[in-house]
Amino acid sequence: MTAKTMEELVALCKRRGFIYQTNEIYGGLQGLFDYGPLGVELKNNLKQSWWSSMVYERDDVEGLDASILTNPAVLRQSGHEDTFTDPLVDCRSCNARWRADHLEKQECPACGSTDLTEPRAFNLMFKTAVGPVDDGSSFAYLRPETAQQIFTNFKNIVDSTSRTLPFGIAQIGKAFRNEVTPRNFIFRVREFEQMELEFFVEEGSDEEWHEIWVEKRLAWWRDQGVSEENLKLLYVPEEDLSHYSKATVDIMYKFPHGLEELEGIANRTDFDLGSHSKNQKDLNLTATVKENKSSNSKLAIQKRDTGEWIVPFVIEPSAGVDRGVLAVINEAYKVETLGEGKERTVLSFPAHLAPIKAAVVPLKRNNEDLVKAAHELKDQLQSLRLGRVVVENSGNIGKSYRRHDEVGTPMCITIDFQTLEDGTVTLRDRDSMEQERVHLDMVGKTFQERIVRPDSR
Ligand code: GLY
Repeated sequence: MTAKTMEELVALCKRRGFIYQTNEIYGGLQGLFDYGPLGVELKNNLKQSWWSSMVYERDDVEGLDASILTNPAVLRQSGHEDTFTDPLVDCRSCNARWRADHLEKQECPACGSTDLTEPRAFNLMFKTAVGPVDDGSSFAYLRPETAQQIFTNFKNIVDSTSRTLPFGIAQIGKAFRNEVTPRNFIFRVREFEQMELEFFVEEGSDEEWHEIWVEKRLAWWRDQGVSEENLKLLYVPEEDLSHYSKATVDIMYKFPHGLEELEGIANRTDFDLGSHSKNQKDLNLTATVKENKSSNSKLAIQKRDTGEWIVPFVIEPSAGVDRGVLAVINEAYKVETLGEGKERTVLSFPAHLAPIKAAVVPLKRNNEDLVKAAHELKDQLQSLRLGRVVVENSGNIGKSYRRHDEVGTPMCITIDFQTLEDGTVTLRDRDSMEQERVHLDMVGKTFQERIVRPDSR
């Protein structure tokens, strides 16, 4: 059902305007990609679906949209300056650099030389100068995860919302990592988006909440059209845990290049809030944290019943938007045999993810009455605000249907001469290819039913 190779997906994404290589006309920039007209719609729909399930459909989560540029003190305290590294080796023959843990054998993949340096820690954070003076004294990091800005806003949000435990803070936004070897299309890139929830709970309830979030996140991926058999859980071994984690469960997905992490769900204990707090020794922290001399805040919360101040534990479901886009495209991709040696490519997205929700197709390109009726219907459907509706004025019905199958448009609505006489149109379904004749009065209702239903694949 899914694509056979990454090359097939890359080709479709470029041909149909989902994803392009950044700055391609100048030879590109490694590890960076741009989302085209359909890619931006798909990505926005995926993010909106996450936001809805995390914020709108719950009563215990608030949203945040914080800065990308980050005070270095934040990432010093969080442990990222010391530990956010990958093991780097240099080839002494051709000077290529590789991630030691990605090499299958002790050999340079570029030139075959076995003369490699010993691995050394390479910090993945990008730095940039802040303000007009660039003497190294005033710099900021581009955040390597959105999470830290949630932790540093913890007190602001508690104070302005009066939340008590358990509650969460959700954020979607860009993060940056100077990957040694970006690869596998949009899977491992240097600039990417994350969808992160930090869910604050009392110590003692953390393990139960961790399990709850693993189940919830698996269910959400299934709702995005990701099939059960392509998802696996990985209980990360202790020696591979991040410095802040007591336990992490990765949701692994069978990408075209192999089984890799789609989302990680970590139990970050009281490590982060404790690290960013002043007077840490008064806080009964369970985690070992770096002494903090610069914070002016105690990131704790008062229990309503006893008045006691506690530093909550944190459960963090952290998903990559770009990896999510790759997974849902891969799942939706099908090449179907139609008989007589013909085939069609279809992206069977769930309707809520489809970049274009409906295409209105006038039978003849230059017929004023047909084109006018098509635009009127488009305006009517667009006003329902369910996503993008287009007029497909190519004048070739077969070609229009094929194009919209290939970009995953759930329905095409054809306006022909009979429409002008009796007000009926043809609805054509992407997946079954069935066509039905309905009156214009019914189109809005049918459209709404098919697009809003979350499992409408
Ligand atoms: N916040 C977890 C991560 O970025 O990996």
